[in-house]
Amino acid sequence: MTDALVNVTDLHSHYGLSHVLHGVSLDIKRGETVALMGRNGMGKTTLIKCLMGLVPATSGSIRFRGQDIKSLATHVLARRGIAYVPEGRGIFKNLSVKENLLLAARPGFEGRMEWTYDRVLDSFPRLKERLIYGGQQLSGGEQQMLSIGRALLTNPDLLILDEATEGLAPLIAQDIWSIIGIVKRSGISTLIVDKNFKALSKISNRSVVMVKGGVVFDDSPSKLIEQPKELKSWLGI
Ligand SMILES: Nc1ncnc2c1ncn2[C@@H]1O[C@H](COP(=O)(O)OP(=O)(O)OP(=O)(O)O)[C@@H](O)[C@H]1O
Ligand SMILES: [Mg+2]
Repeated sequence: MTDALVNVTDLHSHYGLSHVLHGVSLDIKRGETVALMGRNGMGKTTLIKCLMGLVPATSGSIRFRGQDIKSLATHVLARRGIAYVPEGRGIFKNLSVKENLLLAARPGFEGRMEWTYDRVLDSFPRLKERLIYGGQQLSGGEQQMLSIGRALLTNPDLLILDEATEGLAPLIAQDIWSIIGIVKRSGISTLIVDKNFKALSKISNRSVVMVKGGVVFDDSPSKLIEQPKELKSWLGI
C-alpha cells in the first residue's frame, strides 16, 4: 500500500443504461509501467476516463497517493499530478509547437520540476526542428510527440497514454517507445494502452488484461506470454 500511487477498487461505470465497467480493481505502484490490454470495446478507455474524471464512476473507489479522487474534476486531477495523452491526441492545432509546449509547462506536485522545456526539446529532437510549425502541420507521429511533451511538462507522477502508437509508421512508433523508455527511467509511473503487444510487454513491469469490463489478468508480462491459449482468447494473438 505504501508504494502504491493509484488504487482502483471495485469500480463500476455506465454509459446510460449500458454497464461498461464491472468491478475493476487495479493498483499502480510508484515508478511502475503498466500495460493495459484487451480487445476493442473491453473498457480500457472507459477505465482511463474514469481515472481522469471524464466519465463518472457509478460505484467503487479511486485513490491517488492514498486520497479519494473519484469525484474530482479533470483539471484538479491534472494539478495533483496525473497527465493524460488521449486517443487521437490532445494538442492545440492552431498554436505552434513552441506555444503548445510553453502553455503546458508548470511545476508538478510539491514543486517537481524535472521536465523543463529544454529537456523536452532534447528528448524530442524532431520537435526542436519544428518549433514554429503549427500543430496542424505536424505528422501524426510528431503530434503524438508533442502531446507527450505537453504531458511531461506538467511534471506528472502518473502519465496515461491511450493508444500510444496508433496509426504511426513503425519507425516513428519506435521513437515513441524510446521516449516512453526515457519517461520510465525518469521514475514517472505510466499506464499505457497500445496494440503492439511485443513492444508494450517489453517495456512494462506489469500487464493487465481486460475482458468485457473486468480485469482477467494482472501479473508480469512474462507470465502472460506463457499462456498462449488465453492470449488467443483475450487478445486475439
Ligand atoms: N460515449 C459512449 N457512450 C456509450 N457507450 C460507449 C461510449 N464510449 C464507449 N462506449 C462503449 O463502452 C464499451 C467500452 O468502450 P471503451 O472505449 O472503453 O473500450 P476500449 O477497450 O478502449 O476499446 P478500443 O480498443 O476500441 O479503444 C464499448 O462497448 C463501447 O461501445
Ligand atoms: Mg480505447
